[in-house]
Amino acid sequence: MMDTFAELFEECKATTINLRILWVDKYITMDSGHIKYIYNSGFSKFWRGHTQKEMTECFLGSGILNRDDEEWKTHRMIARPFFATDRVSDLDLFERNAQKVIDIMLNADPKGSLDLEDLFARLTVDTASEFLFGENLNTLSYTNDGFRSFTNAFMDIQALIRRRNLLGNFWPLLELFKDQSEGHKKVIRGWVDPLVVRAVQIQKEMKEKGQTVNPDECTFLEYLATTTQDVDVLRDQLLNILLAARDTTTALLSHVIYLFAVHPDVLKKAREEILELIGSEGVLTAENMRGLKYLRAVLNETMRLFTPLPMSIRDTRDSGVTLPRSDATYDSPPMYMPPKTPILFVFYLMQRNKALWGSDAEEFKPDRWFDPELQQKVSSNPAIFTPFASGPRNCLGQNYALNEATLFLVRLLQRFDEFAIDERKQLPPPWKKDPNVDTGLKNPRSGTSRKEIERIWPAFAIVIHINGGLWIRFKKASE
Ligand code: HEM
Repeated sequence: MMDTFAELFEECKATTINLRILWVDKYITMDSGHIKYIYNSGFSKFWRGHTQKEMTECFLGSGILNRDDEEWKTHRMIARPFFATDRVSDLDLFERNAQKVIDIMLNADPKGSLDLEDLFARLTVDTASEFLFGENLNTLSYTNDGFRSFTNAFMDIQALIRRRNLLGNFWPLLELFKDQSEGHKKVIRGWVDPLVVRAVQIQKEMKEKGQTVNPDECTFLEYLATTTQDVDVLRDQLLNILLAARDTTTALLSHVIYLFAVHPDVLKKAREEILELIGSEGVLTAENMRGLKYLRAVLNETMRLFTPLPMSIRDTRDSGVTLPRSDATYDSPPMYMPPKTPILFVFYLMQRNKALWGSDAEEFKPDRWFDPELQQKVSSNPAIFTPFASGPRNCLGQNYALNEATLFLVRLLQRFDEFAIDERKQLPPPWKKDPNVDTGLKNPRSGTSRKEIERIWPAFAIVIHINGGLWIRFKKASE
């Protein structure tokens, strides 16, 4: 899909184009100026739109990711205090769960390998469930392997939504006799509903006893249950934040480890920084975290190349909109968008655009973040790097995600000093199996020439992931 988009942009010599599939207007953009406009000064002229909501209603329902205007504002207002700096800096929460992963790795067969993507999915869901529900789903204990069904349902329902997106207005025809999301929904609800029902029950009992909930001391779910007793609304809101928290941070951690495995020099440098600043037994604090500048550059560079959310979509409302002049890639004039028209923005290509990032845009080079020229470019135009989006609807969990990922990586690199892909188990990219598959190298400006060197099969549903998991061998550090 990214190949096709990159080729279209290249062919049209434009960073925003109207695909007009079957006479229906549908815009796609990799333009940093247009994406910035939609997120910020043009925010009120766009929304998720009805078509988009219908496609995702089965999964996201009335949650924060799937609502606009007053309903969205209320969700955001309720959720915001739970992402305040002091709450998301509870490093003990991240520590407890990170330690479980490290223990699993320390006790694993030293000659074998583990699917780290699966471990990270468990880490992030356990941490997020503790943060959101006050109850750890404890999937890292592997005692309840029903979790695989939960993960699969989560992934399959996202893949279904992506398929609906590709089919555009025609998707309901293919699901005329059966809503394909039903089975997945049932599995997901089986995991979340008991927690929601219990929270409602506790809230009821507290009310009967005349007790009130202190927002500073309760969990997100407990607080939510004071705002509504509707199980559907509560579940939707939790699932939205769980999706936002789990898959994205899993994607970030999996790709960092993949890149460590293929760039041992970067791993060595990141490890040296940690040992120098924190030591091999030391504890991460809010203060020493700020000193980990190279690790932060690794996280940035990973999110630039493998941005966890590769695309997003908005619709114009009842009036048409004129998008401003495009960015310098092709420097096109302002462009008109008709009313009620979707626009898909592809950060994945924008963050690999050679016109913005230089001819080595597709190379993994954390050191670029120390280049004064790039620093100046990003600070004068932050829109070229927006893995967490920007404007009124930016990511609420940015600091949570960065704290969780940093703490985990510190603990990991204190204990391990080598990572390698287990080629026997790693699913190779499909184009590696068949030399006749076009590797997309004809796209000079953006996007897909990494295919030549990739050793994983990059895929995405709503969030990116690695097809078949990430099978890694690791070596305990000697010091
Ligand atoms: C590396 C990790 C993460 C990345 C890259 C990321 C990225 C994003 C992006 C791009 C959006 C905007 C989506 C759009 O406009 O279509 C978003 C929204 C959101 N994110 Fe994150 N996210 C991450 C982790 C998290 C975590 C850990 C949480 C919560 C614990 C979270 C909570 C949210 C919420 C609630 C929204 C919706 C905001 C709104 O609509 O007002 N995210 N995230």
